Amino acid sequence: MTAANPAKYFDAAAVREDFPILKQEVNGHPLVYLDNAATTQKPEAVIEAIANYYRHDNANVHRGAHALSDRATRTFEAARETVARFLNSPAPQQVIWVRGVTEAVNLVANSWGRSNLGPGDRVLLPYLEHHSDIVPWQMICAAVGAQVEPIPVLDSGDIDLDALDAMLDESVKMVALNHVSNAIGTINPVKEIIEKAHAVGAKVLVDGAQAVAHWPIDVQALGCDFYAFSGHKLFGPTGIGVLWGREELLDAMPPFLGGGEMIETVSFAGTTFNTLPFKFEAGTPNIAGVIGLGAAIQYLDGIDREAAAAHELALLDYTLELAAEIPAIRRIGEPRSAAGIFSFLLEGCHPSDLGMLLDQQGIAVRTGHHCAQPLMERYGVPGTARASYSIYNTREDVDALFAGIRKAQALFS
Ligand code: ALA
Repeated sequence: MTAANPAKYFDAAAVREDFPILKQEVNGHPLVYLDNAATTQKPEAVIEAIANYYRHDNANVHRGAHALSDRATRTFEAARETVARFLNSPAPQQVIWVRGVTEAVNLVANSWGRSNLGPGDRVLLPYLEHHSDIVPWQMICAAVGAQVEPIPVLDSGDIDLDALDAMLDESVKMVALNHVSNAIGTINPVKEIIEKAHAVGAKVLVDGAQAVAHWPIDVQALGCDFYAFSGHKLFGPTGIGVLWGREELLDAMPPFLGGGEMIETVSFAGTTFNTLPFKFEAGTPNIAGVIGLGAAIQYLDGIDREAAAAHELALLDYTLELAAEIPAIRRIGEPRSAAGIFSFLLEGCHPSDLGMLLDQQGIAVRTGHHCAQPLMERYGVPGTARASYSIYNTREDVDALFAGIRKAQALFS
C-alpha cells in the first residue's frame, strides 16, 4: 500500500493487503482476526526488515570493529530515533529497549521503586489494570514495606475520579495505569490523572500497550513520567518493547539488570555504569526485534492515523448496533470513551465455548479473564469473550462475528 502511494491515506481494504497472514482460511473459512488486543499481525514490510537483517546485516551491536556490526548498530540506533520521534521524546536516550510492557513495569518497580518507596508510601492502581501493571508493584511494595491500593472503577468501566481525588495525598508516590484497558477498552483520561498525581508529588507510569496502535502518542503533551509499550501490539515483533522515561528520573535510577553493555568500567574493586540508555540494556539486545519495531513505525508513518482511528471507532459503533439486536448479549463496561474493544457475554454460552465455536468458523477472539482478574471480580464474572479491532478489520469482519455469535446462540438455546 505505502509503496504504491507514499502520501498518507487510509483504506482498510488496502491495508489488509499488506498483511499476508490474513489471506488464509481457518477451519474452512476465511480468517477473521479479531484478537488484536492480544497481538497484532505483521505487515510484509516488518517481515521483510527482519529477514533482511538476518540475510545481510546480522552482527552484534556496539561491539564489533567490522562492517556488519557497524551496519547493524546504525540500523538499531536509527530505530531508537524512530521510536523517539513516534513518542515525541525530547531525546533518543530516553527510549530504553525492553522485552515488552511487563519488563518495563518490572524495571521501574525494581529500580525506581526500590530507591523511592518505603514504609508508609502508597502506590495507586485502578481496578482496570492488567496483571503486568499490578504484580510488579505488589512484589516491590512487599519488599520495601509500601502499600498497593486499588482505585475504584464505576460500573461504566471508567475510573472513579472522585474516589481517586479522595485517595491522593503526599503518601502516594506512584500512580500506574493503562492508557486503554485491554479487557474492556476504557480510554483512561491519563492527562487529567497525571495532573492530579503530580499535584501531590506522585509519579505516573502509563502502560500504553493498547493505545500505541490506535492513535499517536505524545509523551511531552501527556506529561507522564514513564510510558511503556510492546512492539507486538504495534505490528512489530514479539520480545521487544519500549520504556520511555523522563531523563532526570532515568539518570537517577540504579540499573535493573547487570551485565555487559550497561557498564562503564568493571573491576573487582567496583563497577561504574554506562550512560543512558545503555545503563538499562544489559546483554545482547533483541536486535532483529528492534529493527522490526522500527519498520513497523515506518509502516505506520505511511498511514493517515486519524482516519484509521476513526475507522476503528466506526467498527465499534457498528458492533454495538448489531449487539443491540441480540438481547442475550451483555456488554461488560460502557466507558465514556472506548477503543475498538468489545468485551461481552452471551447468555447460556460460556465464553470459552463461544470462543471455540467462533474459531470453528474461522473467527479469532480472546476469551477468559484477559489477565485482569481484579476487574473481572469487580464485575462478578469469571471472564468474557473479547473482539478487538485493528486497522485491517472491516465491517465484513464484524458481520462475520455476529453471524458466528448467532450460530453459537442457536446451538446453545
Ligand atoms: N494483554 C494481552 C491481551 O489483552 C495479551 O490479550
